[in-house]
Amino acid sequence: MSRWAFHGHAIVSDDDRIAGPDGLTPESLRNDADWGRFQAALDAAAVTILGRLGHEANPNVRGRNRLVLSSGVRGIIRRDGAWWWNPAGTPLADALEIAAPQGGLAVVPGGRLVFDYFLKTGFDQFHLARAEGIRVPGGVPVFSGISSGSSAAECLAAGGLVADAPEALDPAANVSLTVWRRRA
Ligand SMILES: NC(=O)c1ccc[n+]([C@@H]2O[C@H](COP(=O)([O-])OP(=O)(O)OC[C@H]3O[C@@H](n4cnc5c(N)ncnc54)[C@H](OP(=O)(O)O)[C@@H]3O)[C@@H](O)[C@H]2O)c1
Repeated sequence: MSRWAFHGHAIVSDDDRIAGPDGLTPESLRNDADWGRFQAALDAAAVTILGRLGHEANPNVRGRNRLVLSSGVRGIIRRDGAWWWNPAGTPLADALEIAAPQGGLAVVPGGRLVFDYFLKTGFDQFHLARAEGIRVPGGVPVFSGISSGSSAAECLAAGGLVADAPEALDPAANVSLTVWRRRA
């Protein structure tokens, strides 16, 4: 059994988008209840694993332990207050032995290609918040499979996860949360 637990976190639109056509998170996908819940998860994490674009778009103001995926590095290196890792040639466990040797919770905030990677290696949980009634045409999907017609739910199920009952995260703003867990 792995010494790390991998939890994905995303807020999506009805059409399963995490960002707009410009690659940025639209205001329509920002919600205080979701943000607070996400920040609490980051506070509990041994490491946050994210893509280069998300890392650059969201400066690490709290100095958390970040592992940034990029094809622009070789292996795993320390740069500008973060660990940078290229999965091509360096397995996840080897990177984590360096970035978070104590083990524990690895929170994965994406984006798309990072979620694709962990869908293959195996999420233990995926916390999928949804801004109900919002669409982001032409935006960045949460998983690449969405571009070929699958839903986020189908991608998560194919990744070996099963959904808890959805809960209202922020009823006034119509934001729901479904926690998906690794099938026993
Ligand atoms: N709504 C949400 O919950 C949510 C979630 C996540 C992100 N976002 C937003 O979405 C935007 C960014 O998301 P994104 O999907 O466009 O980009 P991203 O995942 O943040 O970054 C993509 C970059 O990460 C690197 N990367 C990812 N997977 C890799 C792999 N397997 N091997 C090597 N490098 C890999 C590559 O960097 P190189 O080009 O250096 O190779 C790639 O160009 C941001 O605005 C962010 O805030 C929103």
